[in-house]
Amino acid sequence: MAGSPSRRFNVAVVGATGVVGAEMLKVLLQRRFPVGELRALASGRSAGQRIAFNGDRLEVRALDRKSFAGIDIALFSAGAGISTEFAPDAVEAGALVVDNSSAWRMVENCPLVVPEVNGDDIADNEGIVANPNCCAIPLTMVVDPIRRAVGLERLVVSTYQSASGAGKPLLDELEEQTRIIAAGGRPLPSVYPKQLAHNVVPGGWAMDQDGYNEEEVKIVNESRKILHDPGLRIAVTCVRVPVPIGHGEAVFLETVDPIGPDRVRELLAASPGITVEDDPTGQVYPTPAEVAGRDDVYVGRIRRDPSTRNGIALWLVSDNLRKGAALNAVQVAERAIEMGVR
Ligand SMILES: NC(=O)c1ccc[n+]([C@@H]2O[C@H](COP(=O)([O-])OP(=O)(O)OC[C@H]3O[C@@H](n4cnc5c(N)ncnc54)[C@H](OP(=O)(O)O)[C@@H]3O)[C@@H](O)[C@H]2O)c1
Repeated sequence: MAGSPSRRFNVAVVGATGVVGAEMLKVLLQRRFPVGELRALASGRSAGQRIAFNGDRLEVRALDRKSFAGIDIALFSAGAGISTEFAPDAVEAGALVVDNSSAWRMVENCPLVVPEVNGDDIADNEGIVANPNCCAIPLTMVVDPIRRAVGLERLVVSTYQSASGAGKPLLDELEEQTRIIAAGGRPLPSVYPKQLAHNVVPGGWAMDQDGYNEEEVKIVNESRKILHDPGLRIAVTCVRVPVPIGHGEAVFLETVDPIGPDRVRELLAASPGITVEDDPTGQVYPTPAEVAGRDDVYVGRIRRDPSTRNGIALWLVSDNLRKGAALNAVQVAERAIEMGVR
């Protein structure tokens, strides 16, 4: 894939009818990605549906082994099972795969990339580059500049994750539950194990034997891999909140050398893809409702944590469908093109 500025690339979006796939189509257009053909792929249930793209109404095709003929870049967003099964076919057909699922993230020869943090890792790909978890992306973006300046001892993270993080079905269920409650009824959860409307749920993901769920384990392992710090001390609690789009994270950092809140604000404000919104006296801090639809990771509530040596506490918010998924994937593809990868 040579990086000539006039070249156009045939792009497949696997999972084009999902919430991340739909955002990918938007992001490709908004960033004027040099798309030649756009191939929209989904399950057989959606085959024949039409979706809008750049003034056209593209027909959604059912994914099969021959879907990738002539494709240069395949953006996968249809779950880990589909990526495990079909990403090798796309590579075989000559495409560079950027995979949004968890299928390839921890595979040794597969780079796991946040372009602002470890974009150069793309060079080591064997056909697949993995897009990290939607909380690991903003977390590593915010932690990395601080770590480079003063070193990092330990991270303690609590997430506040929106319904769309679990895909369209939970987004629809949240809306439906909210309507039922407003009409005086009692909703019965079906997609998620607990009612999400008017509630917060510290679960919903598969549990392991140590009492952590798979989302917490992903954030730990993936952050270590992205930061190239396999020994990073990090503990995570994941919570689902009744918000449509936008994940928040409360982050406590212990650094090796001391650093104050003003210096953290300066470092983060100078980092690409990060916006600092932090006026402790003026109620200025990011919230999901304000950040949804935006590209940056927003940071506020930056303060000293006096309960430990060299402690900093902060709050971050990012749009899980954009920087947490579609935008990061498209940025990976852009960077791969610039690097002339594959
Ligand atoms: N949502 C997020 O914030 C987020 C963030 C990071 C990563 N991810 C990852 O992105 C992936 C998609 O998530 P999502 O939230 O967009 O889910 P979603 O809204 O439920 O969409 C799932 C997509 O996968 C397609 N699909 C399902 N079974 C398929 C099959 N057998 N063959 C082909 N396509 C199939 C669906 O097509 P049909 O419409 O035809 O069923 C749909 O397009 C997941 O791996 C998820 O872990 C999501």
